[in-house]
Amino acid sequence: MESISIQQFIIGSIILVAIYVVYQILDYRSSIKRAEKNTQQSQNEVQAQSSPNPEKLEIASLKIMTLNDVQQNNGQNGKKIFIAIKNFVFDVSNSDSYKPDGPYGVFAGHDISISLGKMNLTDEFLDQYGTVTQPEDEIANMNSWFSYFYQRYPVIGRIDDKKQN
Ligand code: HEM
Repeated sequence: MESISIQQFIIGSIILVAIYVVYQILDYRSSIKRAEKNTQQSQNEVQAQSSPNPEKLEIASLKIMTLNDVQQNNGQNGKKIFIAIKNFVFDVSNSDSYKPDGPYGVFAGHDISISLGKMNLTDEFLDQYGTVTQPEDEIANMNSWFSYFYQRYPVIGRIDDKKQN
């Protein structure tokens, strides 16, 4: 059998090395593209998770609702779960906390402003926002809960307290 010359061997090796280098470059490029795509995706996800609401809430464009609309949406009969704080209505349907057997199920379908200010989990202080005077520390407490909910859940409307049930 005719053996290959040193020259042929060197050329063959160079070709193999060249193919390997080109393959590595292409693979590197596509892995950069994949990484960029993943980073963009996670940024979008983080953004979606950390701010369900626009940076500046257009209060005027929010749907006007009544307390009764909130009470109707308590997760029963396939309905959504709404809760209201300071007359802003949040859709908390995607949380297990407000389902009937969840730890905060008692809040489903209610205004919980006063309850949050007092850290009270009974039904005693539900639906009382605007009808009672709150001590300063409870207002502060309620306001920080408001920020918590605002970061976590979409605001879908606001209660106009002049509009009757
Ligand atoms: C033994 C007492 C309590 C424990 C161990 C407890 C524990 C927790 C935990 C672990 C969370 C989840 C926090 C997170 O995911 O960021 C949470 C959320 C919450 N807690 Fe409590 N909690 C207690 C009492 C209360 C009380 C008395 C209230 C009354 C207002 C309350 C209202 C809430 C609310 C509104 C949330 C937010 C749930 C959500 O993410 O939608 N908790 N609690």
